Amino acid sequence: MATYKVGYFVGSLSKDSINRTLSKALIRLAPDDLEFAEIPIGDLPLYNRDLDEDYPPSALALKDAIAASDAVLFVTPEYNRSIPGALKNAIDWASRPWGQNSFDHIPAGVIGASIGTIGTALAQQSLRAVLSFCNARQMTSPEAYIHFDPDVFGENGEVKVDSTRDFLANYMLEFREHVERVLTVLPRA
Ligand code: FNR
Repeated sequence: MATYKVGYFVGSLSKDSINRTLSKALIRLAPDDLEFAEIPIGDLPLYNRDLDEDYPPSALALKDAIAASDAVLFVTPEYNRSIPGALKNAIDWASRPWGQNSFDHIPAGVIGASIGTIGTALAQQSLRAVLSFCNARQMTSPEAYIHFDPDVFGENGEVKVDSTRDFLANYMLEFREHVERVLTVLPRA
């Protein structure tokens, strides 16, 4: 059985991030043939194209981590109805230098949790537009807009409500199918 390496981004830098909790739940519920490694974004400087000739070590590590992944998964909050700056900054680094876009043809998934009922819908819409331009191969369905309820999610990613657990498990199953489908026609180099 093939194993797929999934690099995942948590769009929040908070130590108490509900999106990190969601990422733990997704990993617990994912099919066995997905392996996960977080791609950290917290130590990146602000992107500056003057550094394109001399990428800082943290940005090189970011690009190496994406290159080592078969697919990427974005688990992100919504900030002011859009993508958190730290995550957008990481995407900007990964998309450059010109001609070395790390996201080209990579299978990608987008999901996020918010304390509001909107469930990061607008952040995901913004993120999808960016990933589209970066030529990532996004799973477009199912979508997952998670309203975070601390009574539903344990801090280690336990999901205490059957319907939520089934929904997230199905999301990860569909993500796995998407990854396999994309890699069948667009194998990673
Ligand atoms: C928020 N929050 C928020 N929630 C939302 O549903 N839509 C939004 O536009 C915003 N905007 C926003 C901006 C900023 C700067 C902060 C700090 C927060 C609330 C957000 O859902 C909540 O803080 C989550 O806990 C953030 O996710 P993490 O950091 O816990 O993963």
